[in-house]
Amino acid sequence: MQNFNSKIKPLSHFHKIPLYQSGESTILGKENVIKLSANENMNGPCNEVLNQIAHYSKNIFEYPDSNHFVLRSKIGMLHNIDPDRIICGAGSDEIIQLLCRCFCEKNDEVIYTEHGFLMYKLSALATGAKPVEIKETNRTASIDNICAGVTSRTKIIFLANPNNPTGTMISATEIDKLLNKIPENILLVLDGAYAEYVNSFDGGISLVNKFANLFVTRTFSKIFGLGGLRVGWGYGAKDIIDVLNSVRSPFNVSSLGLKMAELSVEDVNFVNEQRELNKVNREVLRNGLLDLGIMTDQSFANFLLLRFESEKQANTIDLFLKEKGFILRKVSSYGLPKCLRLSIGNKEICEKLYLTLAEYFDNNDRV
Ligand SMILES: Cc1ncc(COP(=O)(O)O)c(C=O)c1O
Repeated sequence: MQNFNSKIKPLSHFHKIPLYQSGESTILGKENVIKLSANENMNGPCNEVLNQIAHYSKNIFEYPDSNHFVLRSKIGMLHNIDPDRIICGAGSDEIIQLLCRCFCEKNDEVIYTEHGFLMYKLSALATGAKPVEIKETNRTASIDNICAGVTSRTKIIFLANPNNPTGTMISATEIDKLLNKIPENILLVLDGAYAEYVNSFDGGISLVNKFANLFVTRTFSKIFGLGGLRVGWGYGAKDIIDVLNSVRSPFNVSSLGLKMAELSVEDVNFVNEQRELNKVNREVLRNGLLDLGIMTDQSFANFLLLRFESEKQANTIDLFLKEKGFILRKVSSYGLPKCLRLSIGNKEICEKLYLTLAEYFDNNDRV
């Protein structure tokens, strides 16, 4: 095949951007795999979505509402916030990208924590900004370290709470402390992709009225079980929302995505039930893994980060689990080569995984 060497050159800073590696979803030669690599809600969406999706599919010839009016109104009602200060996106990924695109120029600095979600770094690089990684303490964000990393060029601080892939989180008091310490011209983005998994936690929403430089992001991809439909949202000061809206593409969220998110928002019982199920399954599995000698921090989300003795052991166990049909997430790209991350499945899947890991340690050395 002829190798075309294009003379069309992209912007110079685009050369530095690595590809986002998503969790694997297949195992060559294996059917019926159990995918635990993307922090999805394996129980799927709420009943109303399942019951109505075929009906609403008939309307997909129509463009979606570019204003996302109904969904914003419903989110506003649920959280008691102003719908005019909400923006919807194709996943919260799009909101993260838009924030960097709208507020960062070349050589501005974007802060995120040592094992923070990769999209922060990639979105910063895509705007020509400089990603600045801040050390964590025991895989948990450190407010003092973040403050020490702030310079006159810092534009955005991204903080996922709970964080992916560590599952750890910091308290509302610490968030308040951070907001009181950073200059008002730095935007703090609190990423609440897993906020619904934490009981009585608003992901920082109530602080937005107090701090004009706080922006909160949320998603329908996790607890709501709509990852494939790509719907997320953000909430912040009206002037920030206006800029983001002026830059996003008008039909960024699909009509089916909007409709299914609207149905999901209304099912508060579903979210409560999924949070409880996740907590029970996560804690049973975590205790079992600790008994097997596998180290894992307290997670506040729908996944666990397993720490092994070495990168070699993590890779061996990853391969062993693949042979048994389980796909976990390797997290070397997050600076965690000795670790594997796994999504919390239902009770049966958690039990099966525990027994499979127990089998591994019955037949292999722990180191
Ligand atoms: C911390 C965090 N933020 C944001 C996202 C993006 O989610 P989505 O674009 O599906 O809303 C993810 C996805 O895994 C995540 O882990």
